[in-house]
Amino acid sequence: MAVPRPEAALVDIERTRRQVLSHPLARGLSLTDTREHLAGVPQRRFPITAYAQRGKAPLIQPRGGVPTFEGQQRLTQQLSAAGADFLPLTIDSYTRHNEYETATQLLRRSEEEGRDYLNGYPLVSHGHELTRELYVDIDKPISLRHGTPDARLLAEIAIASGIAEIEGGGICYCLPYSEGFPLDRCLLYWQYVDRLCALHSSAERPIHRESFGPLSATLVPPAIAVTVQVVEALLAAEQGVRSFAVSFGQTGSLIQDLATAKVLRSLTSRYLRDFGFEDVRSYLVYHQWMGQFPHLRERAAALISGSSLVAGAIGADKVVVKTVDEALGVPRPEVNAEAVDTVRYLLDIFACAAPLGSPLVDEEAALIESEAKSVLDAIFRLEGDAFWESVFRAFQMGYLDVPFSPHADNANRLVSMRDAHRSIRIADRGNVPISDADARREKELLAGAAAPAEKTYRQLLRDINMMVA
Ligand code: 5AD
Repeated sequence: MAVPRPEAALVDIERTRRQVLSHPLARGLSLTDTREHLAGVPQRRFPITAYAQRGKAPLIQPRGGVPTFEGQQRLTQQLSAAGADFLPLTIDSYTRHNEYETATQLLRRSEEEGRDYLNGYPLVSHGHELTRELYVDIDKPISLRHGTPDARLLAEIAIASGIAEIEGGGICYCLPYSEGFPLDRCLLYWQYVDRLCALHSSAERPIHRESFGPLSATLVPPAIAVTVQVVEALLAAEQGVRSFAVSFGQTGSLIQDLATAKVLRSLTSRYLRDFGFEDVRSYLVYHQWMGQFPHLRERAAALISGSSLVAGAIGADKVVVKTVDEALGVPRPEVNAEAVDTVRYLLDIFACAAPLGSPLVDEEAALIESEAKSVLDAIFRLEGDAFWESVFRAFQMGYLDVPFSPHADNANRLVSMRDAHRSIRIADRGNVPISDADARREKELLAGAAAPAEKTYRQLLRDINMMVA
């Protein structure tokens, strides 16, 4: 049995660190230099401070990354002026896949031709010294948003640049993003990132980690999202991370969003405490609709407004914002800033101090909690020398199973669909060890909906895309 253990399971990153930093694009980066730079970073650039100062409404986090330094500088200023509480540094896809040479070539081309040939900021190509310049006047946290299975060098450079929030995790940045990147390697590389964050943390100035709960963003049952989030919080805590945000994506059902938030918050704190990590601060982040977006700007704007209200109603600490360009591609900077402004406006006028509740929400929450606990307990019982090994085994056994994940190590036995109220239900649990009673309850709640095998392709698309029938 391998359960999360404080201290005992610390990974030793010293040897691999030398190898990671031997890359020419690390540009002589060192532990001491990073420490010295971080010591001069204003306190308000640490998420722990932003969260402590939050009022009644969730904090606002846009995404955003363009290839050139000047472009990124402009975007950062625009988003900040529009009212963003966290500023993004979204990384391009080549860098995410460790293809630094291609990223560098396309960066040069973007600079020469004045057109963007990358879908984000190639942080490794730019390096830490230049990137520090992006943030000289900034007193808000910068969030590294990417999707990188091996983020060791990227995280080193991000932290050396003064970035105090790193999104990702061994499960959430592997399962939804790649088919063949070995999950066990991804888990280990993310233990490195977690340990690195911990090494650069102090109690007042922790490097904050955030997990990506939407996963495939496609009919993921809340219990699966919750389980993965709790697991990633525990994996990070084991390595000494002291500030961590769990997150989930808008489900498409208001009741289920309210219930998921409640369970995610309570189980994260409970398991952190039960395993001896009571000094870890946890936060809740809500992602606006992560599925297909309407092409019509008016509808996209309505969806963004609606989910901003939900973010307030669930009492999220932070909301990750979409834009009306979503259906078209990477958002234009001015449209991105407009989205932040709209969400700011909505949250200001509809500030909701505490999560809303109802008996329906309680009932849904009880089901999600019972399911997540069963799966977590089954994972804790699995063999392994370290907790991450049990997590890896959990995928091999199909205990953890993410619908519509493209990854080869995912079982794809669990089948989910929407019920008459748009809630995501487990039609077939596959090998996911929820109890017989909970599996039965999920089926009862599906009564009236067509059986999965009888669903037409169109019906399935409607479930996935939250479209009106
Ligand atoms: N700038 C802004 N948003 C981005 N996204 C991806 N790359 C960028 C970028 N460079 C957004 C997508 C999607 C989410 C996963 O990230 O539009 O909403």
